[in-house]
Amino acid sequence: MTSPIAHFNGAFLPIDQIHVSPLDRGFIFGDGVYEVIPVYDGVPLHAREHFERLQRSMDEIRLANPHTVDEWIALTRELLRHHPGNQSVYIQVTRGAPDKRDHVMPKGLTPTVFMMCYPLASPSRESVENGVACVTAKDFRWEKCHIKSTSLLGNVMARQISADAGATETILIRDGHVTEASASNVFVVRNGVVAAPPRDNLILLGITYELLVKLAADGAVKLEVRPVSEAELRSADEVWLSSSTKEVLAVTRIDGKPVGSGKPGPVFRRIHALYQDYKAKLASTRAMAA
Ligand code: PDD
Repeated sequence: MTSPIAHFNGAFLPIDQIHVSPLDRGFIFGDGVYEVIPVYDGVPLHAREHFERLQRSMDEIRLANPHTVDEWIALTRELLRHHPGNQSVYIQVTRGAPDKRDHVMPKGLTPTVFMMCYPLASPSRESVENGVACVTAKDFRWEKCHIKSTSLLGNVMARQISADAGATETILIRDGHVTEASASNVFVVRNGVVAAPPRDNLILLGITYELLVKLAADGAVKLEVRPVSEAELRSADEVWLSSSTKEVLAVTRIDGKPVGSGKPGPVFRRIHALYQDYKAKLASTRAMAA
């Protein structure tokens, strides 16, 4: 089988021909940032917003961006020429490969850029119709969760807790409040009102989170951005997960107990329909513009 085409430091080449220095700070320190963009039938969803977030992550870690947003979008388009259909585009930028290991950020280093595609694993019909199970755990990560960093050990360890329990996600609790899940954002619905944890340093502000906030406003769904307590999570009528790959999913069991009725609720069904409509409209607008 031929190796899929990826992008590495300006070149497009088969992924098995890409080699990274063992001194690369991404390998040594996890000193890098990344993005994941969903692509539906060749059309990236909110590519600009993802690359703007990449810029914010790079600013936070003091890494000079080798490309403008428009250049990133052009590279994405070129990569997608090799990968039709529904894809996830993965973009990673590390601080580069110096000639020695030193915690201090070296000056004048060229960042390492890597982009690849893999088929988008959209949620199954079954998980949309019946919802998914989650477990909870203490949020033991650091205090800069707003940076989309490749240092993901905390998230990996959090995710494994739910994997070991046969669940879809681990919902994280910090100081009595819900932050997010290991690789998605969390929303809680009580009495018809959606609550989303604040846009602060304790969560990765999802592109999907912002889309759901917008869809809720346009679709007259009441949504508040505010701290969400663990007690609210445990007494919720509905709980949702959101991410670029999960879209929006209902959580119907938490730590083995049913959420609300134990079925995806009416507010979920409304937001899910709004999300699907939004995707369909975006695809048809792009198709007409092309
Ligand atoms: N994860 N919070 C965390 C910790 C995440 O890793 C993600 C996304 C999100 C949702 O962000 P968005 O809506 O922009 O995808 C929230 C990606 C998909 C990943 O690491 O694979």
